[in-house]
Amino acid sequence: MLKSFLEGLDGLTLECEARRGQACSLKDLEALRVEFLGRKGKLAAAMGALAQMGPEDKPAAGKKANEVKNALGSLLESRQAELDAAATQDALSGFDPSMPGRRPAAGSLHPITLAMQEICEVLTGLGFEVVSGPEVENDWHNFEALNMPPDHPARDMQDTLYVSDRVLLRTHTSPLQVRTMLSRKPPVAVIAPGKVYRRDSDLTHTPMFHQIEGLLVDRNVSMGDLRGTLTAFVRQLFGANTNVRFRPSFFPFTEPSAEVDISCVMCGGAGHIGNEPCRVCKKTGWVEILGCGMVDPNVYRAVGYDPEAVTGFAFGLGVERVAMLKYGIGDLRMFFENDVRFLEQFS
Ligand code: DAH
Repeated sequence: MLKSFLEGLDGLTLECEARRGQACSLKDLEALRVEFLGRKGKLAAAMGALAQMGPEDKPAAGKKANEVKNALGSLLESRQAELDAAATQDALSGFDPSMPGRRPAAGSLHPITLAMQEICEVLTGLGFEVVSGPEVENDWHNFEALNMPPDHPARDMQDTLYVSDRVLLRTHTSPLQVRTMLSRKPPVAVIAPGKVYRRDSDLTHTPMFHQIEGLLVDRNVSMGDLRGTLTAFVRQLFGANTNVRFRPSFFPFTEPSAEVDISCVMCGGAGHIGNEPCRVCKKTGWVEILGCGMVDPNVYRAVGYDPEAVTGFAFGLGVERVAMLKYGIGDLRMFFENDVRFLEQFS
């Protein structure tokens, strides 16, 4: 009886060894485990005979049964490892570890940011310090202290987005002139880059755009200083051959005031490219790039500076305009559409 019991168990091991190779999935393998090692499986059935065995045979039979149980367990386990290895191999087939990796898409700075940085770099190089202030302003900083009293006709020039009666989205960066002079004693030389807002939206106007304001106040500052500073500035920004012209103009917060044109970056000032009329300067050879002037005495009075003791100049320029001229962008809307095919050209 013992002999046939032992042979039966060996047979189980042999059978399992023979069949494990046919298990090709985890499901097959689990079925095989249940068949051999399950509660009603082949090993359990064979063990039934143990009960009828005499005490002299039981130890040897029990020992063998344990060995076979372990053997079956490791046969199934090693098959599982084979299946796992094959699955990994499968997943890696066609994978070439020597291929260069895919480069993750990197972002780039927006052209407005780039232009702003470049302008600020040139101006800080000339000695100006960067300051900033709130985009939500009050009437006094945005208009009144800049020599635009409530009924001043110049307020019509700016279509304002109001938050409440006397609170508004700043229509220009010029309130930073006021804020700077209120908090500092002369001499001051600052630039204020930032967003500004107007009730304006068409092909060439967006409700939000960017400006950079400049202010220099000291003793004996002249219009000649203004001309020299701005000429050096535009030549660094647009190239040493750029011509500059100052046209008389009007702003409430400066007197005298001027608008500055530079020779057209597209046609070099010729007004045409070959036989074609230049569309950037509309055949004039000049493009306007900023407004400026000598700070009006009324602005000094508003901030508590003595207009008899100090003089200074201010200027304001539109960043979108500079970016369009510098990077040759023909349509303002490009800056706001966020088309990556456009944006990634500036990386
Ligand atoms: N604030 C003006 C505007 O938004 C721009 C400007 C013109 C600023 C002349 C100045 C200046 O400081 O002197 O149109």
